[in-house]
Amino acid sequence: MLVLGVETSCDDTTAALLEDGAVRANIVSSQHELHEEYGGVVPEIASRNHQRLVVPVVEKALAEASADTTALDAVAVTHGPGLPGSLMVGLSFAKALARGLGIPLVGVNHLEGHVYSVDLDAPRPHRPFLCLVVSGGHTELVHVDENFHHDVLGRTRDDAAGEAFDKVAQLFGLGYPGGPAIDRHAEHGDPTFHDFPRSRLDDFDFSFSGLKTSVLYYLRDRPDTERNRLLDTHLEDLCASVQAAVVDVLVDAVRRAVEKTGVEHVAVTGGVAANSALRRRVEEAGTADGFTVHVPDLAYCMDNAAMIAQAGAYHLAAGHTSPPTLDIDSNLQL
Ligand code: KG4
Ligand code: ZN
Repeated sequence: MLVLGVETSCDDTTAALLEDGAVRANIVSSQHELHEEYGGVVPEIASRNHQRLVVPVVEKALAEASADTTALDAVAVTHGPGLPGSLMVGLSFAKALARGLGIPLVGVNHLEGHVYSVDLDAPRPHRPFLCLVVSGGHTELVHVDENFHHDVLGRTRDDAAGEAFDKVAQLFGLGYPGGPAIDRHAEHGDPTFHDFPRSRLDDFDFSFSGLKTSVLYYLRDRPDTERNRLLDTHLEDLCASVQAAVVDVLVDAVRRAVEKTGVEHVAVTGGVAANSALRRRVEEAGTADGFTVHVPDLAYCMDNAAMIAQAGAYHLAAGHTSPPTLDIDSNLQL
């Protein structure tokens, strides 16, 4: 079974080929530098570039896998959540291709992709497992059972974890996307330099907007010269302090969820799973509390189409295909 995955929900144009669960090609054409000067993704620039890049990216994936479109058994495509104009480019392309080849079209929720990215090119975590999906757009804690069944235990009520990193990085003048820059600067910083707020909600929901506001006030309430000196001399400490605040909240929720559900396997996926402190702290919590941690290869943490092909293959195995009238849903939930 050869599945083509297409993912264009944000600013990366991506295509992948998955053959019987094995990744044969995983192509990502990133537009980050096009959006950097605006400090975030500009929707119209993103959709225009998807339009320009989707065919070459799919052709590159086919070439890398030495496959021809006639070998395809199905096309899996992200139809939400994401930017409407970006989603529409991938979905229109996938519909036309599936229709032209007379093969099934499978609409995939981008978050299902992030959840099942943990099954790519690695031993699948034992079911059930808990999956913390942390990306620029989402923070969800999901309970995953056998047979493609999953329940959301909690999600962010406002900003996503990656969004918090990105917004704080902008306040620190670190550019976009900010997560990798904060991670890098935090490496030699003191996480106890400043005690930024950790919002602990009663259930498994998250809230990160207070952290961004608190950093904003922390900088704003100082005269210009003091603020500049602080950013010059303590940038590493500030990054480490912000990172610790985000990671504390995430790890605390994972530990509580493990305790409550008794599940012994935890996956961390999405772009923020690349964060070195988060990876280290979840591993430490696993060792202390007796759960096993699974983090996908970095290429599968960032937005990619292999994860969409993987979730699409599970849909197909469960007998789900999508009608040619499938629409995008920019607010699609798990
Ligand atoms: O999964 P992804 O590629 O796209 C979305 O679905 O959002 O995640 C991108 C997010 C951005 O917010 C970026 O700042 C964050 O992941 N990110 C990181 C790191 N690498 C990427 N955040 C913290 N530490 C990192 N090392
Ligand atoms: Zn994503």
